[in-house]
Amino acid sequence: MNLAKNVMQRIDALGKISEDPHCLTRRFCSPAMKETNELVGSWMREAGMTVRQDAIGNVIGHYPANQADAKIFLLGSHLDTVRDAGRFDGPLGVLVAIACVQMLHEKKLRLPFAIEVVGFSDEEGVRYQTAYLGSNALAGSFDSNDLMRLDADAISMSDAIRNFGGNPNQIKQLRLNPERLLGYAEVHIEQGPVLEKKNLSIGIVSAIAGQTRAKIRFVGRAGHAGTTPMNLRKDALCAAAEFILSVENHAKEIRGLVATVGQTETKPGASNVIPACVILSLDIRHQEDPQRIKAEKVLRRTARDIARRRKTQLRWEAVQETGAVPCSPKLSQLLMSAARSHGDCILNLPSGAGHDAAVISKITPVAMLFVRCKEGISHHPNESVKVDDVRVAIAVMNEFLQLLAKEK
Ligand code: HGY
Ligand code: MN
Ligand code: MN
Repeated sequence: MNLAKNVMQRIDALGKISEDPHCLTRRFCSPAMKETNELVGSWMREAGMTVRQDAIGNVIGHYPANQADAKIFLLGSHLDTVRDAGRFDGPLGVLVAIACVQMLHEKKLRLPFAIEVVGFSDEEGVRYQTAYLGSNALAGSFDSNDLMRLDADAISMSDAIRNFGGNPNQIKQLRLNPERLLGYAEVHIEQGPVLEKKNLSIGIVSAIAGQTRAKIRFVGRAGHAGTTPMNLRKDALCAAAEFILSVENHAKEIRGLVATVGQTETKPGASNVIPACVILSLDIRHQEDPQRIKAEKVLRRTARDIARRRKTQLRWEAVQETGAVPCSPKLSQLLMSAARSHGDCILNLPSGAGHDAAVISKITPVAMLFVRCKEGISHHPNESVKVDDVRVAIAVMNEFLQLLAKEK
């Protein structure tokens, strides 16, 4: 079977499983995720794996070792998406991993370690604004307070998990035993333009940027748009607008810093009412944690000054913080050796995007292989990858597993 072509067909099949008929959106514990887990689980079984869905909705395939009591090497990525997403962000890593196990299975080959392929249930955090719910559960860093978070339909995370067939009370038991793990490797689209510019199919990730997610509320006072003089207003949306532009200006000034307000909500949201309350998301990233932490402090001070000057109240909620993570030099070296044997010169590049690997690094060494994507486009329906680059990624990951086996 042409495994790369098969991966592309499966990418298209998963790209059609969405909770939105007009675009690809697949959020944590949604019916679309249930359908996805069932389909991915069937492909895992075809590749000779036993399949389980854990208490937080991760789908996990297990491919046994050639010996009892062997350690486990983890492969995988996430199966949830952003809103109006591309087809490759997440699923490509799960499907390339399944293709590698399929190769072993077809040759009736077992390695001196077991392989577990994980389809993580929530990396993007669209439904509850928290990222990495699935990988945090496996890393033992899941925050049970998040179970009380409500989504846009006021459904709590614990109810969403129960409705999905999971079990909020068992999440704490999902932590994998680090002693049993050899490491984790994730294949992911680059989501940037570097590999395409250098005309390379793949690259090795050196480190994953840290990220801070905050929820910010400017509270003013509703009023009549026609009768309230400008100097008597407490307009929450004007305060928010001034803050959003200050976020952009600050990020432009600091090398390596990116900061984004991706979500806004205005209340009461009528054209003839002065906005009383605006809720914003804030996403701050940098490869160096001190720079990211400093940027959050500066922006929080700016928000306070704007709120005071505009006679509005400020509420700043730190939602989640994930530190920058260096990839394992040893596993990355193995990936490089595997890539060299496939004629691809190697590029070490940092990831501005977050990945489940950043969380799994808490319990085992991690490595990442980036695959070129067209114009670096991602978190957009035009996300696109060449089948030839998928073929290289499968070959390199397969070689990587063989090199790892030789070491055992
Ligand atoms: O936001 C990110 O960096 C990733 O796509 N979750
Ligand atoms: Mn993403
Ligand atoms: Mn991703």
